Amino acid sequence: MDEKEHKLSLKREVGLMGAVSLIGGTMIGSGIFMSPQTVLASIGSPGASLVMWACCGLLVIPVSFCYAELGTVIKESGGEYIYILRTSGPVVAFMLVFSSVIFVRPAGIVGISLSFAQYVVAPFYPECSPPVLVVKFVAAAAIITLAVVNSMNVRFSMSVQVFFMVVKVLALAVIIIGGVVTLARGQNESFKDSFENTNLGINAIGIAFYQGLWSYDGWNNLNYVTEELKRPEVNLPRALLIAISLVTGLYLMVNVSYLAVMTPKELLSSSAVAVTWGNKVLGSWGWIMSVAAALSAFGSLNGTFFSGGRVCFVAAREGHMPEILSMAHVHRLTPSPALIFTTIISLVVLIPGDFRTIVNYFSFTAWFFYGITLGGLIYLKIKRKDLPRPYSVPIVLPFLVLLVAIFLVLAPIIDDPQIEYLYVALFILSGALIYVPFIHFKICPGLLRKMTVFLQLFLEVAPTDKKLV
Ligand code: ARG
Repeated sequence: MDEKEHKLSLKREVGLMGAVSLIGGTMIGSGIFMSPQTVLASIGSPGASLVMWACCGLLVIPVSFCYAELGTVIKESGGEYIYILRTSGPVVAFMLVFSSVIFVRPAGIVGISLSFAQYVVAPFYPECSPPVLVVKFVAAAAIITLAVVNSMNVRFSMSVQVFFMVVKVLALAVIIIGGVVTLARGQNESFKDSFENTNLGINAIGIAFYQGLWSYDGWNNLNYVTEELKRPEVNLPRALLIAISLVTGLYLMVNVSYLAVMTPKELLSSSAVAVTWGNKVLGSWGWIMSVAAALSAFGSLNGTFFSGGRVCFVAAREGHMPEILSMAHVHRLTPSPALIFTTIISLVVLIPGDFRTIVNYFSFTAWFFYGITLGGLIYLKIKRKDLPRPYSVPIVLPFLVLLVAIFLVLAPIIDDPQIEYLYVALFILSGALIYVPFIHFKICPGLLRKMTVFLQLFLEVAPTDKKLV
């Protein structure tokens, strides 16, 4: 990690291209190969499902403009954590870090790894859904493999990232071309009466949003590393706009292609959409789509592991994380404590989790904090007019998107109260309870210090130069 940080910060040269791929590479992962059927299932009709996919993009673009302003006003790396810390204070920032380390990041890892596993095993079960246990076993294997790879060598994991990025864009391009050819042949049954059976229930829309937004998640990735970006005031807004519009366009066309090739019924009953698509369009070469979707998820998983250490570093710098989680291996210079910790929690989340549920809770929690972050921007715009703003959005924008974020967080709960959302909310709030004794009053510092020293010797890790993060 140390080496990586040195390398990244010495160069301090993530240019526009790098920035676009940092965002796009994280956004495209598992969702576009997994969520189309859940979006369709909850919203009811092909037409409305395409509208949902477009709306997700149209929501993320203005939110990202707000993040562009935040990223150029608060210049530190660290994304939501640092914005919330500077606007809403340490307790809320700690709640974010706590939820992110214990739940959001592991949930992200599990969601992506389940998609990977689904696509790896799909070709072996052509006629039926694969057994859950087999899928989970493969998902666990993927998580452990990537944790090991990332603990061994930082450079290797960085170079695989580029390879996976190329594979997934190619895979999406193949799907789009296949769709165009199918449509050109006049096959368009799915689009006749395409809004029939649309379900306009609040809960249905909320769930469709959660599922769609999962595929778009990662749009905020560049805000985690703004300190390493060349000319952030120009490149941050530009990279966000280019990457998100590109991904939105690709996702829409891929969905049109899925629907051109499959009837809504076929789409809903498929256990892996891209495989069904591949079998119908590519015939005996259909398995290629399975490989491509698996690689896409694997790349996203690798990226999530790779960038995951950052929030830990920034939070440890503020005294919000046990120091051990921000240390790096003395020889390999990889953030092994944070990796081991995340792996263990991810495996625990994997045991009960299924893709759909995990994605719903992931989006619920993530958008809760995006909402707080947007609230922070509104606060800065009203109270801190004096701050230099190289890039500024009209104040109605954060207001509008904040309303949508509130809808997203509250709608599914109000419409169809489920006890699990209460658990998640209680869990987020429990961060505040932990904050008071352990961070504010620093009780048991001796215990923590002893544990840190023990783990440091055991794992052969040492503090990194946190100024560089
Ligand atoms: N959009 C990604 C996908 O479709 C998931 C991203 C999870 N979030 C993250 N920050 N890595 O698989």
